[in-house]
Amino acid sequence: MDLKNFASAQQYFSRRSFVRSAGIASAAIAAMPAFASGGIQQAAPAAPDAAAAGRQRGAGGGRAAMPADMVRIGSNENPLGPSAVSLEAINTAAKKGGRYDSEYSTAMTKAISDQFQLKPGYVRIYPGSGGPLDLALYSNIGPDKALVLGDPSYEQGYRAAQTMKAKYIQVPLDKKTYKYDVKAMLAAHTNPGAYYIVNPNNPTGTITPKEDIVWLVNNKPAGSVVIVDEAYHHFSNEESVIDLVAADKDIIVLRTFSKIYGMAGIRAGFAFGRPDLLAKFETVTVNNRQIGSISLTSAAAAAAALNDPQLVPLRRKINRDTLDNTLAFLQKNNIPFIPGAQANMFMIDCKRPGGEIKNAMMAQKVAIGRVWPIYPTMVRVTVGTPDEMAKFNTAIVKVLNAPSLPASAHLDYDIPNELHRGYSA
Ligand SMILES: Cc1ncc(COP(=O)(O)O)c(C=O)c1O
Repeated sequence: MDLKNFASAQQYFSRRSFVRSAGIASAAIAAMPAFASGGIQQAAPAAPDAAAAGRQRGAGGGRAAMPADMVRIGSNENPLGPSAVSLEAINTAAKKGGRYDSEYSTAMTKAISDQFQLKPGYVRIYPGSGGPLDLALYSNIGPDKALVLGDPSYEQGYRAAQTMKAKYIQVPLDKKTYKYDVKAMLAAHTNPGAYYIVNPNNPTGTITPKEDIVWLVNNKPAGSVVIVDEAYHHFSNEESVIDLVAADKDIIVLRTFSKIYGMAGIRAGFAFGRPDLLAKFETVTVNNRQIGSISLTSAAAAAAALNDPQLVPLRRKINRDTLDNTLAFLQKNNIPFIPGAQANMFMIDCKRPGGEIKNAMMAQKVAIGRVWPIYPTMVRVTVGTPDEMAKFNTAIVKVLNAPSLPASAHLDYDIPNELHRGYSA
């Protein structure tokens, strides 16, 4: 964002009668109905306290509902939720929801195509990016076509390889910079079907410079494709690689509205690729008409968000400020973390099994993220609101300094994470 316009960003929010003063974070937070009405806790459904929840689990046989005041910083969601412009757009579009009209999906496609000067046929819209990510992977790997990916990385990559019975090779991130080691990825297999790169990476939040991805695209064996997952792109300062799509390279790029746009539950996303690469999706699914069918309200919300020039810069700054404050606190308290995060997540090193810390934090009503086998003492933490991160700070110091950790068997709450993506089963 042009921060000279900071004042106008505040006006932008206050025009909607929410906030007139205070910092950028509180302005944006108050702009969201859930927060304005007294906090995210009130927006959550009523639920029993931790002890009662534990007992319920035994009775019902399943996992217990999470307490209403649980701090949820485990699933890389955006606590700000959809922006005011998206909520307005949903309201307007919903009234037209009795029709099969494509007004909003056309607007969504046009907004992004204009941004990247894409010719017709180079972008498809979907309910989220996880679905087209599977299609991009499935359609390029198989028993004789391996997948090369990073480690740690978003689990959908290797799970797709398991589904397709493809060999997969997990190449550790560079030990100093935590970027993808593209040279080692190229050396890992002579003729894979696909390379999968998440940038910024989930779970480390770290960046792989665009020039490294360009190098891989230009040096990889013919017949393979590079799949770049830009789910967290907007939080970073790195340039996108969508221009390589426009240049007809062997690359597929995924984008989602689940992260900076705060629409994880609303479901909207993009796949970018040469028309022949996108057409290959049809080899692993019935047809795009079915799986790419996005609701009129989601498309309206997405189009409105894309056409709002303030939204991304403002939210990027809110995230950056909260992340910086949290990392400064960790540093002051000698809690090590992976440096260089440019996303709404970071990893801390607990110096003991990460799963134990995750459970102990749950007992403090702070739900943090998962552990990846390659870094067994590290846990992923999502950037929440300043208030949520203050609770995280208090809890993590308490837990890491505790002489012993509580037994965790009863703390098996039903907390959705980003691998669930809004479906139940
Ligand atoms: C790296 C990455 N890719 C894709 C997704 C899928 O997100 P969605 O289907 O909500 O767009 C996620 C979800 O967190 C993610 O972390």
